[in-house]
Order: sequence, then C-alpha cells, then structure tokens
Amino acid sequence: MKVVYFLVAFLALASSIAFAYDPSPLQDFCVATNEINGVFVNGKFCKNPKLVKAEDFFKHVDPGNTSNKLGSKVTPVAVTEIPGLNTLGISLARIDFAPKGLNPPHTHPRATEILIVIEGTLYVGFVASNQNNNTLFTKVLNKGDVFVFPIGLIHFQLNVGNGNAIAIAGLSSQNPGVITIANALFGSTPLISSEVLTKAFQVDNSIIDYLKKQFWYDNN
Ligand SMILES: *[C@@H]1O[C@H](CO)[C@@H](O)[C@H](O)[C@H]1NC(C)=O
Ligand SMILES: *[C@@H]1O[C@H](CO)[C@@H](O)[C@H](O)[C@H]1NC(C)=O
Repeated sequence: MKVVYFLVAFLALASSIAFAYDPSPLQDFCVATNEINGVFVNGKFCKNPKLVKAEDFFKHVDPGNTSNKLGSKVTPVAVTEIPGLNTLGISLARIDFAPKGLNPPHTHPRATEILIVIEGTLYVGFVASNQNNNTLFTKVLNKGDVFVFPIGLIHFQLNVGNGNAIAIAGLSSQNPGVITIANALFGSTPLISSEVLTKAFQVDNSIIDYLKKQFWYDNN
C-alpha cells in the first residue's frame, strides 16, 4: 500500500512539474473535504459525490471593507471559499478600492490573472522578468476594460478615479496564492537579516530598520 501511495504522490508531483498549472480533473467534480485519511496528494480530498450539494459550488460575496492603510480589499473566492472549485483550475477575486486605494505590488505563484473593471478607473501594471529587462507594462482601465497579468509576474492596481472602484479578477488556479512583495521582504517571520536587505537594496541599515518597523497590512 505504501508503494502505491508513493507512486500516486510521485505522479501528482511529476504532472505538476510537467504542466506547472492545476492538473486537469479526472471526474465531474471533487468537492474538497477536510477529512484526512490517506496521504496528501496535490490538492484536497474529494467529498463523496452522493453527498455533494449545490451549496458546495456557491458563495455570496459582499463588497470588501476598504477602510485600511492601503484603501483596498481583495475578497478571494478560491477553493477555501468554494470547496467545489477543487481540481477545477479556476477561481476569482473581487477587489474594492477607496479613492486613491492601492492593491500593492504582488504576485500569484500559481495563476495568470484576467481582470475587468466594473466601476471606476484603475492604473494597472506588471513587470516582466529579468530576461525581459524588467519591462513595465501599464494601462489606465475604465469601466468595462480588461487586462491580463501573466502568471508569476509582479503586478499592482491603483485607483486613479474620483470615486470608489471595483474590479473582478479571474485566476487560473483553484488556489492562486499571493505574495505581497513589501510584506514578504520587510515583514517576514522571522525577519530577513539586515545584511541581506541592505546589500540587496543598496541602502544603509537605518532605511531597512525603518521599513521593517512598518505595519505591513495584508489586504487579502
Ligand atoms: C471597516 O473597517 C474599519 C476598520 O477596521 C471598521 O472600523 C469599520 O467598522 C468597518 N466597516 C464595516 C462596514 O464593517
Ligand atoms: C534587453 O536588453 C538587452 C541589452 O540592452 C537587449 O539586447 C535586449 O534586446 C533587451 N530585451 C528586451 C526583451 O527588451
């Protein structure tokens, strides 16, 4: 039995390396359950299909509360929120912006994002990797405009309109993950050594100390 589990885990790993996206499902649905009585494979265990209900595929999303330092709130609707998304390789997020609100530079390690503005005006952009000279791609988006942020690349959205803004983002993973750049570098647990950060950013200790003392709000 152990050998079989090893094989299953190995195949799950191999396929995730080969495709680098969520693997294709091999059944109609695999509603996630927290029951654990086997090895952890790539994703979550499936609920017995006979016990699956419409509610497993449903979620109501309210506007996010933007009263915070960033003036933005991301409301993810991924496998944690809708267990029916397990194995389906897709999720979404609603992003609310107060005037001047920012969804700060971040990356999704497992998903490409396609975003539509449904209210307001956003200045959005992403930065290409080193091999493309860290080229910055930006655009001002109005209601109805759509923009794509390729998988893994650092991107942001800033509300440059007069009122609130709302965007809906589709993401190509059931669990896109998010790494907020400032939080990850200056608010990690434990903190990254100042020797690393002073050299990386080519600034002195006082600036790094100052940055480390900030409260890095997570708007997700
Ligand atoms: C929004 O968040 C702020 C700050 O945490 C809080 O004071 C306020 O009550 C919240 N508003 C709503 C409508 O939940
Ligand atoms: C990046 O910069 C190098 C050196 O200037 C240049 O040769 C190359 O064409 C640039 N690549 C892109 C994608 O802009």
